[in-house]
Amino acid sequence: MTLGNVLVTGGAGFLGSQLIRKILPICRHIYVIDDLSTGQREAIPSSGKITFIKGSITNKKLIQNLVSRVEYIFHLACSNLLNSSHNLEQDFNTNLYGGYVMLQCAHNHCSNLKRFIYTSTSSIYGDAPIFPTTEDYYSIRLPYAASKFSVEHYCDVFYHMYQLPVSVLRLSNVFGPGQLPSNPYCGVIAKFFEAVKKKEPLIIYGDGQQTRDFTYLEDALQTIMLAAIKEKAIGQVYNVGTGKETTIIKLAEKIKQITGFTDAIMHFKPKRPVDIVERRSIDSEKIQKDLQWRAYYSLSKGLALTFKWFKEDT
Ligand SMILES: NC(=O)c1ccc[n+]([C@@H]2O[C@H](COP(=O)([O-])OP(=O)(O)OC[C@H]3O[C@@H](n4cnc5c(N)ncnc54)[C@H](O)[C@@H]3O)[C@@H](O)[C@H]2O)c1
Repeated sequence: MTLGNVLVTGGAGFLGSQLIRKILPICRHIYVIDDLSTGQREAIPSSGKITFIKGSITNKKLIQNLVSRVEYIFHLACSNLLNSSHNLEQDFNTNLYGGYVMLQCAHNHCSNLKRFIYTSTSSIYGDAPIFPTTEDYYSIRLPYAASKFSVEHYCDVFYHMYQLPVSVLRLSNVFGPGQLPSNPYCGVIAKFFEAVKKKEPLIIYGDGQQTRDFTYLEDALQTIMLAAIKEKAIGQVYNVGTGKETTIIKLAEKIKQITGFTDAIMHFKPKRPVDIVERRSIDSEKIQKDLQWRAYYSLSKGLALTFKWFKEDT
């Protein structure tokens, strides 16, 4: 199986750089665009099959040129949750306008498009009252959720008006090798590992009773692959999570146990404006049924693999 020529936006970021590693053997060529606002050039593997372009997804001319060369588009570039709440204009430009540019250029200039994958987020559920939360709920409270959800709507528009083969994945707190603590978004696991390494306290915002649905990198990447190759994914929106809730205190305890740093102190700080979610657990039945996906990695297994990478590579 081959994907031919591929474009990955945000390829210098956590998921983008790991996706590139995964698909490299089955691609003819991978074009990577990233403005390096938070991503690292070194995160992209070096290969004669990869062309890196430092630039923004809001640069229409550049995107027109790039999409005309590919058959698959993986649109991952984003302004993250924290950056977005500090800089609404950047959020609007990158996440909403950038997403729109990607779709419009794909429609007008990508004559051979097989799939447009858009990685959306469980942040669109806000502080949901239903658990596990299904795809039909939403609650928009933060700029990041507003811009990411708006592009989901544009995906719908381009699918219905022009039959653009889009597929949307709502990811939930992905973690794993390659997630650098320097990037603040969804970095609680990377942050905890970094604190352990430096023998510093584990910082928790709020009382630590808030829960998250943590998804291991390999399971998340698998959904991106399935959405790219399975016909059934076209025009669909899928939750990607485990359906399991873990409190931040429990997570800290697990990390203390896995790393052997049992003396680590938990340091509680007041919540930040972005810390609005008390509970998170999302229902992935739809993707399980449609694309025969399963989350294979337990939190403990994923944490152990991440710690191994953290010790060896950071
Ligand atoms: N990591 C998670 O837990 C998670 C959860 C839900 C959704 N997502 C989504 O998955 C995608 C990837 O997330 P990630 O964790 O790898 O994020 P990341 O922040 O590590 O990567 C995003 C990349 O986009 C780049 N970028 C920012 N603005 C750009 C622009 N204007 N033009 C080009 N590149 C730009 C950044 O430099 C960075 O390398 C995002 O769309 C995000 O919304 C991630």
